[in-house]
This record gives sequence, C-alpha cells and structure tokens, in this order.
Amino acid sequence: MADTNKTAKLTIDGKDYELPILSPTSGPDVIDIRKLYAQAGVFTYDPGFTSTAACDSTITYIDGDKGELQHRGYSIEDLASKSHYLEVCYLLLYGELPTRAEMEKFETTITRHTMIHEQMHYFFRGFRRDSHPMATMVGVVGAMSAFYHDSTDVSDERQREVASHRLIAKMPTIAAMAYKYSIGQPFVYPRNDLDYAANFIHMCFAVPAEEYKVDPILARAMDRIFTLHADHEQNASTSTVRLASSSGANPFACIAAGIACLWGPAHGGANQACLEMLKEIGTVDRIPEFIARAKDKNDPFRLMGFGHRVYKNMDPRAIVMKESADEVLELLGVENNPLLQVAKELEKIALSDPYFIEKKLFPNVDFYSGIILEAMGFPTSMFTPIFALSRTVGWISQWKEQLGDPQMKIGRPRQLFLGEKLREYVPVDER
Ligand code: CMC
Repeated sequence: MADTNKTAKLTIDGKDYELPILSPTSGPDVIDIRKLYAQAGVFTYDPGFTSTAACDSTITYIDGDKGELQHRGYSIEDLASKSHYLEVCYLLLYGELPTRAEMEKFETTITRHTMIHEQMHYFFRGFRRDSHPMATMVGVVGAMSAFYHDSTDVSDERQREVASHRLIAKMPTIAAMAYKYSIGQPFVYPRNDLDYAANFIHMCFAVPAEEYKVDPILARAMDRIFTLHADHEQNASTSTVRLASSSGANPFACIAAGIACLWGPAHGGANQACLEMLKEIGTVDRIPEFIARAKDKNDPFRLMGFGHRVYKNMDPRAIVMKESADEVLELLGVENNPLLQVAKELEKIALSDPYFIEKKLFPNVDFYSGIILEAMGFPTSMFTPIFALSRTVGWISQWKEQLGDPQMKIGRPRQLFLGEKLREYVPVDER
C-alpha cells in the first residue's frame, strides 16, 4: 500500500480536512479515514461495507467488473486447471508456490493431522441425529479449543502454525463425521494413503462392511470444488473470522464463528438453497413463474445462486465449476437429469431477461457446485459443510495475516444512533 501524494478534501461547516489517498497494487484507490473522527469529530456511514476496505491484505485480489480472481497473483483458472487444493493451501498460507520438497513436507504434515482426538467422538454423540451438519460443525470446531490446548495461544507463532495445520487437516474428518452421524452410519477413519479429496470422499461414502474405491475423476472434481472455494478476500465469513480474532480469541473459536456466518443463504448456504429451489421449480415450464417472483418487489424470493456483491460481469469460479459439472455429469451418466435441465433453462432465461441484465445478476459459484455435489451423491445438507471445509484455509490465511500485522487493533465499528434521547424512567404504576 503506497501513499499516492494525492489527497481527498472534505469540507464540513466550511472547514477543510485533507484525507490521504492510498494506492493498492491492483484495484481502486482508498481514502484513508483512520484519523477522521479524531480530526473532524464525524464518522462515516456504510452499512454492508459497500465502500469500505476494512484491512489491507496481500492474499486474494478480485476485479469484480472484469470477473477476475487471483490468489497471490495466480489466476483461479490457472490454479484450478494446473494446481491442486493442497498446493493452493500452501500458496495462500505462505505466499509462494512450494518447491517439490516443501510440498512433500506440507502434505505429510497435513496428512499426519487428519485424525481427531478420540474423545471428540463422544462429543458428536451429544447431537441429535437430525442435526444439520453445519450445526454440528459449528459446535465441534468451536470445541476443538477444549481438545487442543497446546495450539490456542495466538501470541506463540509455533502454536499458530500447528492450529493452522490441524484445522486444514481435520476439517474434512469433522465434516464427514457430521454427515455419517446424521445418517446413522459408523464414522470412517481417515486414510493417509489417499489424497486430501479422495480421503474426504472415502470418509463420506465408505462403510466398514465392504471395500470402497474412490473414482479418481470424482476425486479430481472434488479437489477442484475445494480449490474454487479456497479463499475470496474479505467476504462476510472471512470478515467475521477477522473480527473475532481481533479480540485475541483462539483460532478454533474464530473459525467456528466463520462457519456460523457462512451458513446463511446469502453466503455459503446458497448452494443448498439453490438446489432446493431447483427442486421446487421441478419442471422447465414453471421457470417463468419463479422468474416473475424474483422480479417482484413485494416478494422476498430471490433466484438462489444468482448475483454477487463484487462480481458484476461473471463469477470466474462459476465458469470453471460449470465445466466440471459437465464432466462429472457425463461420467456419472446423468446429463439428462431433470434438475439439470431446469438449471440449464433457468440460466438461459435469466441471462436473457432485461431485469437480470440490468442488475448485472449472473450465476455464481453456488449455482453449479450444488449440481455436481448432488450428482456425486451428497445430500443438500452437506453442500455448505463442503464449502466450509474448503474455505478453512482462506479463513486461516487471513487470520494469520491479521495476527502478523503490526497495525492490528480490535475491530470496533461505530453507529448512526437513531434511538431515543435521554429520558426519565417512569415507574411501572405510572405508565
Ligand atoms: N434474484 C433476484 N434479484 C436479485 C438477486 C437475486 N438472486 N440478487 C440481487 N437482486 C436484486 C436486488 O433485489 C436488488 O434490486 P434493487 O436494486 O431493485 O433493490 C439488486 O439486485 C441489488 O441487490 P443487493 O441485495 O443490493 O445486492 P448485494 O450485493 O447486497 O447482494 C447477494 C449480493 C449475493 C447477497 C445477492 O445477489 C443474493 O441474495 N443472491 C442470492 C444468494 C446467493 O446466491 N448467494 C451466494 C453468493 S456467491 C457465494 C458466497 O458468497 O458464498
């Protein structure tokens, strides 16, 4: 972040204030208002942070108008086609692509942390069987701070690193266990001879009674889903993790907060909501009815899997995800699945509708990921847990970056107060 020598002038009641303008490596300039309140006694007002940069970061860059996403300078298209998830994890965490030796060491470390403390199995059993796997994940990940005391001290760099490795390694195990628990099947232990994605599929679909072979094409598709969700700069859940961490909270508590935020249907919960919407639409002839509802100001219904706060042209993750969806559906022989027909037709109609064109609403990553996951045999309730496990590395990388930032302060937004002014208390008998 460089000073530009440019300033913005703000005039309040005839008095001028000079605000420095900072220049990023990429993206729009930023007006530095850190001293505004001290100098001018006013706050800025920006609910939803539509014009506010809450931190500086070197991890992920998005150009919403061009539809570009880069991690540490590498395009998501390159990473999705040439790299693999654990390499992207290394890149996000450490800033550079690993050498072969660094990659081997990282893979070994992650693999050796995949099992969870055996006592945690009993913790799972405290949940109702019909709990949503996201509910279980919020609880279990938060509870990791009760099981891994030796990696909760955020002032200790080594403990921070161990917590990062534990979270990346154990999240698939926890997500798969949440699933197995919800369907009443025995937990399947991780297999360290399988790669990250294949191991997750195995933990979800294998049963102790027979051998289960993971299809390498499905494992590759799963790995790509993980990669496409790995990080997305300062979205709602990442900002939640940063805010939680700004108080000095331990990493497991912070990531549990991120999972809770991700669950909402406007964020990571959209993949589940999207597939449920496609099922509700059911047949192609009912699409116009739902398009009309999405456009009706008096109807809260929105087309799930459409729209994005930052992308106003296309979501580059959705393009790669769509290619993957075509591959997986062909492999599984379900190209003619009625749900897919509805999805394809809905996409076509929405993309040519003036309302969606004018508001720049395009299919986002969640529109296609649900279709692949459904075809792979995951129930809709597992879609958001899979997003959460993929995003863990992004949350952790942003958390790590924040803790290393000498400017770090507790996050404490202010407000535009519109409530009552001071008034006198009236005893109950006199009201
Ligand atoms: N269907 C119909 N209309 C929409 C939609 C939609 N999916 N999304 C936005 N609009 C309209 C909205 O009604 C508003 O119209 P107007 O200006 O007339 O009031 C306009 O577009 C701008 O919407 P907004 O709510 O101000 O935009 P936002 O940037 O605050 O919200 C969003 C972004 C992603 C929350 C929203 O587009 C949405 O709710 N989409 C559906 C949920 C979804 O797919 N979420 C996943 C996002 S990508 C992955 C992730 O982040 O997890």
